[in-house]
Amino acid sequence: MKTDEIREKYLSFFEKQGCVRRPSDVLVPREDPTVLFTPAGMNQFKEQFMGINIDYTRATTCQKCLRTGDISNVGVTAYHHTFFEMLGNFSFGDYFKKEAIHWAWEFLTGKQWMNINPQQLTVSVYQGKHGFDEEAYRIWHEEIGLPDNRIAKLEEDENYWPASAPSEGPDGVCGPCSEIFYHPDGDSKEVEIWNLVFTQFNRVGDPPDNLRPLPKKNIDTGMGLERMASVMQGVRSNFEIDTLKQLCLAAGDVVGKKYSFDDPAGRPLRRIADHVRAVTFAIHEGVMPDKEKENYVVRQLLRRAVLEGYLLGKTEPFLHQLVPTVAEVMTSAYPELKETVASAQGTIKEEESQFLETIDRGLHHFESAVKSAGKSKSNQISGDDAFTLHTQEGFLIELVEAMANKKNLSVDRKRFDDLMLEFKDTSRGGESGFDSVMAEGPLDAIRKTSGPTEFLGYDSTTADGKIVGIIANKQLVESLEEVGHVLPVAVILDRTPFYGEAGGQVGDSGVLQADGLEFEVLTTQKQKELTLHIGHLKQGVLKLDQAVTAEVVSDRREGIRRAHTATHLLHYALHQTVGKDATQRGSKVDSDELRFDFAHGKSLTDDEIRQIEDIINERVSTGASVETAVMPIEEAKKLGAMALFGEKYPDRVRVVSIGEFSREFCGGTHLSNSGQVGLCKITSEEPVAKGVRRIKALTGPKALGQIRETENLVKELVTLLKTPGPAELPRRIEQLQEELRQTRKEVQKVASQNVSGLVDELIQNAETVGDVKIVTHVAENITREALRDFVDQLRQKGGPIAILLGAELDGKAALIAGVSKDLIKQGVKAGDAVKVAAKEVGGGGGGRPDMAEAGGKNPAALPAAIKAAADFYREKLGG
Ligand code: ALA
Repeated sequence: MKTDEIREKYLSFFEKQGCVRRPSDVLVPREDPTVLFTPAGMNQFKEQFMGINIDYTRATTCQKCLRTGDISNVGVTAYHHTFFEMLGNFSFGDYFKKEAIHWAWEFLTGKQWMNINPQQLTVSVYQGKHGFDEEAYRIWHEEIGLPDNRIAKLEEDENYWPASAPSEGPDGVCGPCSEIFYHPDGDSKEVEIWNLVFTQFNRVGDPPDNLRPLPKKNIDTGMGLERMASVMQGVRSNFEIDTLKQLCLAAGDVVGKKYSFDDPAGRPLRRIADHVRAVTFAIHEGVMPDKEKENYVVRQLLRRAVLEGYLLGKTEPFLHQLVPTVAEVMTSAYPELKETVASAQGTIKEEESQFLETIDRGLHHFESAVKSAGKSKSNQISGDDAFTLHTQEGFLIELVEAMANKKNLSVDRKRFDDLMLEFKDTSRGGESGFDSVMAEGPLDAIRKTSGPTEFLGYDSTTADGKIVGIIANKQLVESLEEVGHVLPVAVILDRTPFYGEAGGQVGDSGVLQADGLEFEVLTTQKQKELTLHIGHLKQGVLKLDQAVTAEVVSDRREGIRRAHTATHLLHYALHQTVGKDATQRGSKVDSDELRFDFAHGKSLTDDEIRQIEDIINERVSTGASVETAVMPIEEAKKLGAMALFGEKYPDRVRVVSIGEFSREFCGGTHLSNSGQVGLCKITSEEPVAKGVRRIKALTGPKALGQIRETENLVKELVTLLKTPGPAELPRRIEQLQEELRQTRKEVQKVASQNVSGLVDELIQNAETVGDVKIVTHVAENITREALRDFVDQLRQKGGPIAILLGAELDGKAALIAGVSKDLIKQGVKAGDAVKVAAKEVGGGGGGRPDMAEAGGKNPAALPAAIKAAADFYREKLGG
């Protein structure tokens, strides 16, 4: 049975049981600060488990997950991955143990479902310090009919979720679980295939008494899709299933090895297959390899894969070539991957090339680090070596640790961490699990009692509302008096015209008012469906339940609307000009100012930028009407509305269309007609991250203002350069440059002539030692070229001669020494003379034996410098 078929069967089985089939959550849940990547199917339902925000009480999903806790096992064991898919069914206060267990059994053993031989299945239930899960045991034993010897009783580490060894898990929702195991050969060897969690508690703080019963009992289950596929396909490893086998074979092809499971190259190729799948999914969602957090994890995975390939002899970038295969094998569940293949390849290739540049040096350094560990009879790579490898060679610490482990060495992590702290680098990575599954904060409390904030701002900028929450100092308060508060306060209303920052659009500013009350709103944010008016209380008292009038600064809002509609026009124009691969990576919409980030490997040409600007303004001038509609997400997709990959959307989405040509998922505030943009001017195009470019633009009055500024500058130039008009400016500048060139030449000539007159005079008056003349002189009004020429002329005319000239050039002392060839043989060298002289003017220099130059900071000391040189020559010549 193919992996795609198992996924579909699972979801439709649970649909039959009344579960709503929900889409996978994004891989990087940005609104959840407790995790970097989605670690389990339940992650998107944390609120529902707490009893908040329940639209349906049964759900089923296939969730994209990424965990790095087991990374060292990837490719080694049969069943570990970083990226994997988790099949789940969930109950929010609805069905409980009985149904969860019966359905799991039916799905696994039912003829039209997985049809697994029941004799090959065993289970476990919880027995530990919180007691014995008798209920689960009874259901398995009496209702399903499993004998006691096939029901293991396991403790916290195994049968409590989430658990973190030794037994106490993180704060948040949790409960005992019951696991189902498959025995491939019917013997003791087993594979865990399904975890049923009976989510009943909220864990807060330390034991005892830290398990608070949840308002309702829930079910959270997780089945690894890849593991199930290996069972159904009768293969010995997840990497041998239809999808991953194909990826392993492709990995073999691109590094030039034939993949087979038991070959020594098997392990590294499996790692490459696993990592490239994870990296492709992450980059698809806009998570680029970089220095921090989830981006750092992506970089780490990518470099691990590249190193594996390199050690197999592949010294050229190869990983990017696997992206199309990833998209291909995953296409049935994730067809959207195909849309970003090209840009993901570009990003990966660049990162690969960069890492490959230093990989040799890094490996060399690693080897010598291993040797020095051996020499000092230590079983540790030193923290200093690890630090250099990490910061300079691109061998991230996790990579160094993995390589060290292979040689039975560890890394002095303490010293490394200390050095990193000094380095003040925040690049920490490697998420291992959960910090807190759910913290009940003030916002949850408000959300629970008052529901989401109603947004009225699409139609108006002023509205009446009621205060339902006041947060000061991160705490809920009932009222707040004006006492010159410095810290910002957040006020939440039941309804508001204020737009909370979202989807790239900045939050509104304005004021909340009532009799004697004035609260200045500096910015507005949105969290957990609540709109937070953030600002300062200027006058009066804020009280819960108080009625207020909320008024947005409407000029600013107008500017934001212009910029937002223009952003959609820009998106459209970009696709027209550069192509559909230039997918949106982010945007920021402010008042008459916008920036737009998109996937593209190289800078746009001036021509492309002009074209984009033309298309935008042409669409402005046609005055296309802007329409919004709320519709089911599937319908919006069918209409071809553009969405942002990696962004989470609700079931019903708002779609903003401009004329017939632009359609985007968007919750922002827009104009009613594209003509109201007035004018859009692109002001810059620049790189922001690997494979991502940024365009900045202005609209309306700001665009006009920018053009005026340029115009004023040109006017000023016309006045300064005295041309009839701007058109003559370039010609005039060329002319001035030419004049300058000529003038320089003449100055040079005059300087040389002056020198010629002096040469004879200096030679005549020169001091002599034996037959050698010593000429030292401080020249005035001279150029560097003339100074050199001066020395040449003296040498030509003077027979055996030792020279040192000084001059003040650009406020600094310049020195130049020269000796005739015959003197060099006697050991009298220009380089030595100039060094002695340079000391006097506070500088240094040197050069050839026959001619040398130096400089110094102090021109006032030039007379002393030439005197020192004269003394030097005299002494050398035995005078
Ligand atoms: N959330 C549970 C797990 O990840 C099902 O194992």
